[in-house]
Amino acid sequence: MAQGAGPLVSGPGMNLTLEKCQTCHEIAHVTRAPMSRGEWADNLHRMRERGAQFTDEEFEVILNYLATYYGRDPAPPPAPDTYAAGSDPIAALLRTHGCSACHASDQRLVGPSFREVAARYAGDAAAAAQLAQRIRNGTQGVWGPVPMPPVASISDAELAQVVAWVLAQR
Ligand code: HEC
Ligand code: HEC
Repeated sequence: MAQGAGPLVSGPGMNLTLEKCQTCHEIAHVTRAPMSRGEWADNLHRMRERGAQFTDEEFEVILNYLATYYGRDPAPPPAPDTYAAGSDPIAALLRTHGCSACHASDQRLVGPSFREVAARYAGDAAAAAQLAQRIRNGTQGVWGPVPMPPVASISDAELAQVVAWVLAQR
């Protein structure tokens, strides 16, 4: 576990945890043993019974902090937003227009992966125009019951760029 400069790993909620949790005992006592989120919640309730003072909002902040940095739950799956980083113009388009919340290149999120889309329409000369229209107007029933909402914010030029890129996924 990476240690910060201070007695606790730095992260959101660290200062509040320091403030609230070392008035009765050393902070090292708090972080000696990692606990699951549920165990931390039980612990915070016990500390409250013993006299620790914090509001319900502060309870959540401290719980999130401890469960994140001193937790022992299995690691959460990586964030699905595979287009989050980088200055790639396509990545920026997918982010700006919200596509990346529902699509990734190689795994199904809410919508099909872009590779699946490319495979399905390989060799289909009409696909580019059809996909552009479906992205613009929304679509449902092609891949399953979940609808894709219309994407009004995207320009025609951007749409053509994204569709060409999608169809080129391998
Ligand atoms: C009002 C005093 C007080 C405050 C404030 C306080 N604790 Fe405690 N804590 C105790 C007492 C008393 C014990 C039990 C005696 C001991 O182990 O030293 C304890 C023990 C613990 C233990 C060891 C496990 C256990 O249940 O004995 C952990 C972990 C812990 N506290 C976490 C916290 C956290 C996290 C905070 C901040 C939200 C906090 N404490 C704030 C009084 C306090
Ligand atoms: C809220 C979630 C969501 C967003 C945002 C979203 N999509 Fe979709 N997308 C879906 C779903 C669900 C489907 C499958 C719809 C179906 O079965 O007809 C889909 C289908 C598609 C398809 C395949 C269409 C077909 O006819 O086979 C493409 C290409 C696509 N989306 C691209 C995009 C692009 C590009 C963006 C951003 C401009 C985007 N999507 C934004 C959920 C979304």
